[in-house]
Amino acid sequence: MSDRLVYFNGQHVPESEARVSIFDSSLMFGDMAFEMTRTFNQQPFRLRSHLDRLYASLRLLEIDCGMTIDEMEQVTHETLRLNLPTESADMDWQIMHNVSRGPLSIYKTAFPEDLRPTVSVNCWPLITHNGGFAPNYSSGVDLMIPSQQALPSHLVDMKAKTRSRLHYQMAQLQAARAGGKWPVLLDPDGFLAEGPGWNIFLVRKGVLYTPEPRNILCGVTRGTIIELAQDAGIEVREANLGHYEALMAEELFCASTSFCLVHAATFEGQRVGEGAPGPVFSQLLESWNRLVNLDIVAQANEYAHRLPAWEAQHLEGTPVGTK
Ligand SMILES: Cc1ncc(COP(=O)(O)O)c(C=O)c1O
Repeated sequence: MSDRLVYFNGQHVPESEARVSIFDSSLMFGDMAFEMTRTFNQQPFRLRSHLDRLYASLRLLEIDCGMTIDEMEQVTHETLRLNLPTESADMDWQIMHNVSRGPLSIYKTAFPEDLRPTVSVNCWPLITHNGGFAPNYSSGVDLMIPSQQALPSHLVDMKAKTRSRLHYQMAQLQAARAGGKWPVLLDPDGFLAEGPGWNIFLVRKGVLYTPEPRNILCGVTRGTIIELAQDAGIEVREANLGHYEALMAEELFCASTSFCLVHAATFEGQRVGEGAPGPVFSQLLESWNRLVNLDIVAQANEYAHRLPAWEAQHLEGTPVGTK
């Protein structure tokens, strides 16, 4: 059992006691907004941007979580502070917010207190995510287009970050079946949308392109990359990009909170550029490292090295503790 604590409906409880009811609307409808933030050097990165997006998603879902955004921010810092001592000082963290409407009212007799939204904030050491991910930084990832499409915003607005994600899961299953590939979903107009947990960028003739914010989640990482590119004098264009544009790209890469950015080695079975990180990607990765004052690839490699022992220790039930 871990020593981690989770903020759950007004109090901090051991992780194993943070349980969502089977009557919760999140389970019935995928009716839950969420966020995933990460730390660099144990400082949350752009937490306020993540919380702004969380509160925008809640507004779309018409959920009042009963906390102001300032209160949520404070609870987030407190939850992280409580969990930091359970790991070594060089551990970075995933911070997850999950907010649902709560149990459906038809089941109210099962709840002695009034029905209320389910609000949780939990922290998880990034060693598992980024340790497992580390080899991708050198090999790159292989992208493919699955038959599963992205949802257009006139059906369900994907700018909200919700747990209603079966189409992403279907795309992942199709890509996994194709031999461990990463799926880029097309929207119903045939334009590149995004991956199941990341945004896509391509480079052509020195210009950085990314899908316009129509049928996609506008990632915090995506926004940061656009800023870094503009600061470096790289031209950035948000555009409708298709299969053709991706095939013609000199560089293709994916962006998301946990891994930040990773290059694509192939797209639809064809090599992208030289199959290695391209010059624009490499420049952006360096700028990212400077921004967060951390070498993210070196950190992932270090986590990969430590991961087997970390997992063994945690499976034995011996917390790693402060070192
Ligand atoms: C569908 C989707 N697109 C893009 C992203 C990237 O967003 P961010 O950079 O804020 O992590 C995510 C993150 O989980 C996502 O789920």
